[in-house]
Amino acid sequence: MGRAPLFAQLVANTDNGFYRQDIISVRQFDREKLAYVFGLAEEMRHMVQQVGSADLLHGRVLANLFYEPSTRTSSSFMAAMQRLGGCVIPINEVRYSSVTKGESLVDTVRTLECYADVIVLRHPEAGSAQIAADCATKPIINAGDGTGEHPTQALLDLFTIQRELGRIEGLTVAMVGDLKYGRTVHSLTRLLSHFGGRLQFVSPEVLRMPAELLREAREQGMEATEHQDVAEVIGEADVLYVTRVQRERFEDQALYDKVKDCYVITPELLERAKPRMTVMHPLPRVGEISYDVDKDPRAAYFRQMENGMYIRMALLAAVLGRA
Ligand code: ASP
Ligand code: CP
Repeated sequence: MGRAPLFAQLVANTDNGFYRQDIISVRQFDREKLAYVFGLAEEMRHMVQQVGSADLLHGRVLANLFYEPSTRTSSSFMAAMQRLGGCVIPINEVRYSSVTKGESLVDTVRTLECYADVIVLRHPEAGSAQIAADCATKPIINAGDGTGEHPTQALLDLFTIQRELGRIEGLTVAMVGDLKYGRTVHSLTRLLSHFGGRLQFVSPEVLRMPAELLREAREQGMEATEHQDVAEVIGEADVLYVTRVQRERFEDQALYDKVKDCYVITPELLERAKPRMTVMHPLPRVGEISYDVDKDPRAAYFRQMENGMYIRMALLAAVLGRA
């Protein structure tokens, strides 16, 4: 007789609204679903801090299919699956897979779903996660589709705001940097629109937030303004969400060189910010936040990163019907 998985029978739940569902866009989340995932993520944090791991996903397999580089998303999904007792097929940057022989995304996904119960996909083209979901019978979780969305990042961002400031409603959130190509700010803008408040978009002219997203946010009742200077918003922001200029998305490298160092957050700049506010960044950073800021208690980007694992544990458990 094999050993019975510790929690598996106790908590099977296929009626949670997530079971066998794809996670492609934050548009799929309303406040009730967000609360459910955040509650579960807190339980995951507690479990990890108390005992480190559980057998919740014993025998389940995750395929981690990454066509673009990743440190946090790929490793936190791996850690999440392993801490819940499951295992992972890691395909990083697809370099050593049959993609280099010319295999299509659709065939690659169809292959992996023969072996895995869920597929996490990062791909350089917007819309690729939906294409994968359309051809797959197993759930696809979007880990970033080009300039489209990065829904699991936005969930962990919102979860971090809630933890750092104790609320999400009615905040003033300043997003700084590459708002055109940065998929994390696209997803976060959509999620914040459930909570009212003010969005201040700070970017060079050529990297403005897409008009469609601005319109969507305003239609949802958000006050949204655009700026080019961080100094204009720093004193009012409850959240300063800083992003990297996305070098890999530029066709014109000279243009990238012109805008790459457009903003640098320093301790001097933060002297003008509220004492109770939070500085976030999806990471990696390449100069936008000076290392001296790390000691500031308002710098939340390392805590934000840790929160990612608990959110991804919650999502995997929910999608696989074990939460
Ligand atoms: N890691 C995030 C992403 O993949 C942000 C970034 O790369 O700048 O979208
Ligand atoms: N925040 C984020 O997605 O990081 P990686 O690109 O390292 O996965």
